[in-house]
Amino acid sequence: MTPQLARYFERWTAKVNKALDHYLPKENVAPQSVHKAMRYSIFAGGKRLRPVLVIAGSEICGLSGSKVLPTACALEMIHTYSLIHDDLPAMDDDDLRRGKPTSHKVFGEAIAILTGDALLTYAFHLIAKNSKMVNSAGLIPQVVETVAQGAGFAGMVGGQVVDIEMGEGKWFRHPRKKQIEILNAIHRGKTAALIKSSLLAGAYLASARPREVKRLERYAEGIGLAFQIADDILDITGDKKLLGKKGSDQANRKLTYPAIYGLEESKRKARSLVAHAKAELNSFGSKSQVLSELADYIIARSN
Ligand code: IPE
Ligand code: IPE
Ligand code: MG
Ligand code: MG
Ligand code: MG
Repeated sequence: MTPQLARYFERWTAKVNKALDHYLPKENVAPQSVHKAMRYSIFAGGKRLRPVLVIAGSEICGLSGSKVLPTACALEMIHTYSLIHDDLPAMDDDDLRRGKPTSHKVFGEAIAILTGDALLTYAFHLIAKNSKMVNSAGLIPQVVETVAQGAGFAGMVGGQVVDIEMGEGKWFRHPRKKQIEILNAIHRGKTAALIKSSLLAGAYLASARPREVKRLERYAEGIGLAFQIADDILDITGDKKLLGKKGSDQANRKLTYPAIYGLEESKRKARSLVAHAKAELNSFGSKSQVLSELADYIIARSN
């Protein structure tokens, strides 16, 4: 990560963490179990990529990131809910996340499921709240639409469904061409969709022009897919301590980029996606620096 991008992340993750602490229910308020579990997973760590994308999407379209903090928090809540559910025994069955025991290990499966539900619904409450903030009325119906789409059956949930249905080596029975089609549908759905919604939510709050939205959309689709390819690669090659998770793709015989293409070709494909994504930023001029550096970081990261 470049020093400039590192400073951007430091500055904004500090504000996002403060806002998350402000908006999340206090632990001593009943029912305490779910409030504790919400805070446990949100503050376990995490790179805060999606909230930073909300902020960067807003800033590249001319609105200060401080005006979109509730929506930035909302996207981190939806992402964290997706991780809590992804780790459940019925899904990837993982016991380490963000360097700590997974939610269901600490609070039990029922509370982990409900904690995910609580984070998802509260996210939309926060998006509504953002519309009441001075100077950032923006295009709230579009924000709700893009976030609901990115999180739901046509996005993250849909991708997770196919990921699960193709797990345990079930993808083997398809011909290679079909395997590649399914693989891309999974990755676009489970990961790229919410990354795209994050960036576009920020852009809509800044009343972005349709032309700007279109370019940011193509950029986000590219880095979103590259992000999941990098996640698949790190699952095999990553330092488990740095990652804060153990990697279960091979044990679960998942359909991943390295499984289809091998590590080197997967890396090449991720690099090419990032190069094309960065080209979409040309018309934004010097304002595109953060997103351009962020695209490189997506595939260079070690966690
Ligand atoms: C992990 O996301 C799950 C995927 C969508 C690949 P991140 O790698 O952004 O996880 P955190 O938020 O930093 O824990
Ligand atoms: C999950 O993909 C993406 C989500 C929507 C949570 P993975 O199952 O590969 O994510 P990790 O590797 O457990 O973080
Ligand atoms: Mg999974
Ligand atoms: Mg997983
Ligand atoms: Mg993974």
